Amino acid sequence: MKVLIIHGPNLNLLGKRETDIYGTRSLDEINNAILSLAADLGIDANIVQLNSEGEILDAIQKSNYDVLIINPAAYTHTSIAIRDAIAAINKPAIEVHLSNIHSREEFRKKSFIAEVAIGQISGFGPDSYLLALRAAKNLLSQ
Ligand code: DQA
Repeated sequence: MKVLIIHGPNLNLLGKRETDIYGTRSLDEINNAILSLAADLGIDANIVQLNSEGEILDAIQKSNYDVLIINPAAYTHTSIAIRDAIAAINKPAIEVHLSNIHSREEFRKKSFIAEVAIGQISGFGPDSYLLALRAAKNLLSQ
């Protein structure tokens, strides 16, 4: 079972970026936790961090995987192209956010991704990714 995990723009700055909102853990630390849980669950996890919308589209379209876990970051609120790519692939997608996007600025409450995702996990910090991984495992076990 293969899971593709995409971290969107600016998430390479985790640990240094707005730490009051996103916490102090670096992306490498978060990825290590994801890979460790993936190994326990028997999931083959491929993790990428991409800053540009086009690269995210390429990864969604070309990669070989069974479930997509994506934190589209700021593109969540703007990208119809990412929304359409997810709609096109016919694979389950899980939307992830570290922060609770519904408790922040008004513009963050709109997600173009939510309507094409199986579900959204938002507000649990790095654990949002781990919860998504468990959800992916359960989806494919059904
Ligand atoms: C984010 C929330 C987005 O609104 C923001 O643009 C991000 C990170 C999150 O993980 O909480 O870059 O996706």
